[in-house]
Order: sequence, then C-alpha cells, then structure tokens
Amino acid sequence: MTENAQQPSAATNRTHLVGLLLGAEEDWPTAFEELLALVGPITTDDGVTHELTSERLTIEPFDLRQPVRTGLVIDRLAYWYYHPREWLKKAALMNDTYLLNSPFTFQSMEKHSAYVALMRLGLKVPETWLVPYKHPVDNVRWAYTSAKYNQPFDLKKIANDLGYPMYMKPFDGGGWRGVSRINNEADLIKAYDESGEMLMHLQSTVDYEHFARALSIGPETMVMDFRPDQPMHNRYAVSHDFLSPSAGKQTAAISRIVNAMFGWEFNSCEMLVAGDDVYPIDYANACPDVAVTSLHYYFPWAIKALVRWSAYCLVTGRLGPMDLEMRRYFDVADRTDLDDAQKLDAYLAIADEYFETDAYWAWCERYLPHLDAAVLEWVQSDAFRRILRSTVQATYPAHEQDQFMAHFSGLIGLWVSDEKSRLGV
Ligand SMILES: Nc1ncnc2c1ncn2[C@@H]1O[C@H](COP(=O)(O)OP(=O)(O)O)[C@@H](O)[C@H]1O
Ligand SMILES: [Mg+2]
Repeated sequence: MTENAQQPSAATNRTHLVGLLLGAEEDWPTAFEELLALVGPITTDDGVTHELTSERLTIEPFDLRQPVRTGLVIDRLAYWYYHPREWLKKAALMNDTYLLNSPFTFQSMEKHSAYVALMRLGLKVPETWLVPYKHPVDNVRWAYTSAKYNQPFDLKKIANDLGYPMYMKPFDGGGWRGVSRINNEADLIKAYDESGEMLMHLQSTVDYEHFARALSIGPETMVMDFRPDQPMHNRYAVSHDFLSPSAGKQTAAISRIVNAMFGWEFNSCEMLVAGDDVYPIDYANACPDVAVTSLHYYFPWAIKALVRWSAYCLVTGRLGPMDLEMRRYFDVADRTDLDDAQKLDAYLAIADEYFETDAYWAWCERYLPHLDAAVLEWVQSDAFRRILRSTVQATYPAHEQDQFMAHFSGLIGLWVSDEKSRLGV
C-alpha cells in the first residue's frame, strides 16, 4: 500500500485506482485486471473523462495520517490478516476510500448478530442457542466472576428441547471451522468438550430440499444451487429455476437485505430451502471464494459484476456507508399491518435504496453498453484460457489436470453458448 500523494490531474480527466488486497489467489485478480481494462474511458455529462486502473496492494508500515490514493478496495485478505484490515479502516475513515465490505461491521457483527438481526425481521432462522465456553478464556478475574455469576446449566436439556439431530458451530464461524452435526447425547458431549475456547451455538437442523447459495456483488445477486457434500469443483450445479418462484424471490431478497443492513457488498448468503420456505443459516461470508475452479459457469458474471460495481461506485462518487440503517428495517419488522411477504418487499425496498439498484442498472446501460460483448469475447480468448490453465495447474495434481481442464472448459463453453443466446449473437 505505497502512498504517493495523488498526482494533480486536469479537471477534465480523472483516474480512479482500485486496490486489490489478496491472499493466495491469482485467477480472479488477473481476470478482474483484464476486464477492468475493457471498460475504457467513461465521459460523464459534466465533461469529465474517467479512467479506471487497478493495483495489487502490498503490506507495509503506514503513518496514520499518510494520504491514500486508492479510491476503492476489493479485499480477500483482511478477515484473517489484521494489518491491512486496520489500513482499510484508516483509508475509509480518512480518505473515504470505498470498501466493498465494511470491516467495521464484519468485525463486530459476526454470524451471531446476523442471526439475531434476521430473527428480528421475522425470517426463518432455525432455533439457535448460545452456550457459555467449555474452557473460559484465560483471565485472572475468571475465578471470582465464575464463582459469583456463572450459572450452572444443563446442556443436555437445551439439546433435548432443540431435538436431535442438531448442529453445533462457532458463533463467528466460517469455512466449516468447528462445525459438527450432533446426532445424539454422546456426540453432544464430545463436540462440546472439543469446542474448548470457541464460543458455540446449538442450532436445530433444517430438513431441506435445496441449498441455495447467493453470491451478491453490489446490487447484483446470483442464487446458485449448491451441493455442500460434493468436492469443490462440483459444488455449484449449473441449474436455473431450481427453486419455486416464491423461494427464488425470497432468497435473492434476503441476500440483498442482509448485505444492505451490514454494509457487505461482496458476500455470500447460504439458505436452506424446503418448498416455499427459506431458512437462512450462514450469511456473514464477506469476501467469499470466487475462484474459477469453484464458480466456473458463474465466474464471468462474478468478475463482470465486480468490475461494474467498482466502476459505478468510483465514477459516480458513491460514498461508503459509515452508518447503519438497521432501525429502518426494525420499524418495518414491528409493524402489525403487514404480512410476511409485504414486510420482505418493504425490507427489499430499503435495501434497493441503499444499493441505488435502479440507478445502477441505468448507469450500466448508459456507460457500459459494450461490456457484455467484450467479456463474451474475452472468455473465448487465449487470455482466459491461460488463467484457467494456470489455476488448474495450481489446484490439481499433474495426472488430473487434463481431466479438470476439460471439465471446466465444458462448463465455461456452456456459459458462452447461453450468453450468446442471451445477447442474441
Ligand atoms: N441448521 C442447519 N440445518 C442443516 N444443515 C446445517 C445447519 N447448519 C449448518 N448446516 C450444515 O453445515 C454446514 C456448515 O454450517 P455453516 O453455518 O454454513 O458454517 P460455516 O460458517 O462454517 O460455513 C452448512 O453448509 C450445512 O451443510
Ligand atoms: Mg457456510
């Protein structure tokens, strides 16, 4: 994150810098860089010509008052590496650098708060309990606090009331860390003993027909048919209309509502679906996996959405949301004159206001009319093939690479033919 002072530029020409904060991945950042170059200059009604560039951010000491050149950051690192997370906060607070995910709420409102907030909205979050630590954190004051205030509790009774099977998982979980399915009392005791210093939820099991995983980028949402028991390359099924119209509408709405409530604009939301009933179970997954070897068919959409939303935010000068608007949602939740479907519509209207959804799509139509065709051509180019090949080489052993190249090329080919018919070319 080298910090040169911003170069003075003519008022008629503005260059916006997108910063990429990365972990181990190469595929989507390269794709993002190549697609961003396809955007080209954008001249707005005020006569200003906007150019978009990107840079991979590096980790180094920084002066808290140092100026920041980066206009917007897409981040896949800060949720586990805290030095850049604190730089992101400084950049947002001082420079109005636009962050696709609020590090403030992501740090303070983990899965647990997201559960509670959606319960308050009346959504079907499964019955969930939080139990005290098996091994309380190491603190000299604990003995006194424990003797005086720590209530003995009956774990088995809570479990019996919830009913077996159930899930035990950390209150701030992600990536299946510490998740176990509890079939009986023996599982319960074992999982709780092993939870150690993790703080755990107990949650009733949802018997579901479909696992809907919604990836949202700004106001764009893709609800995908996810199969968690499959190996990574097979988890996202390419199936359209796998949900009933009502469940399809609810899953897309819920994802956007969660994101608008917490300021998460690049997030995935997991919902279990039975008939028209949608049960949200995991939706604090900011900066989710978007590897080409995970998303395949959906990869061109995801990277295009990242480019579109970044361009929209930078060129229109959209300001990052520093304050939450949760009260507006709760005011709807508390109304007695609306039924569940009407409330969902009302929450979605607030979320769409947050995301400027209508203005966004109109802006894309006006300033990025060439992007769909350009991306379609790019996906069929050697440049894309190189990305796919090097990702397959980095992900699979040598003897499986040809097989996986063929597998992913087939799925991408399917996207190409669907996209051609969508665009009528
Ligand atoms: N209440 C539940 N009912 C049924 N399956 C569940 C439930 N909670 C979790 N699971 C299963 O466990 C997996 C991991 O749980 P999840 O809450 O998504 O944790 P993580 O945040 O680690 O991804 C889910 O993908 C799902 O397959
Ligand atoms: Mg999950």
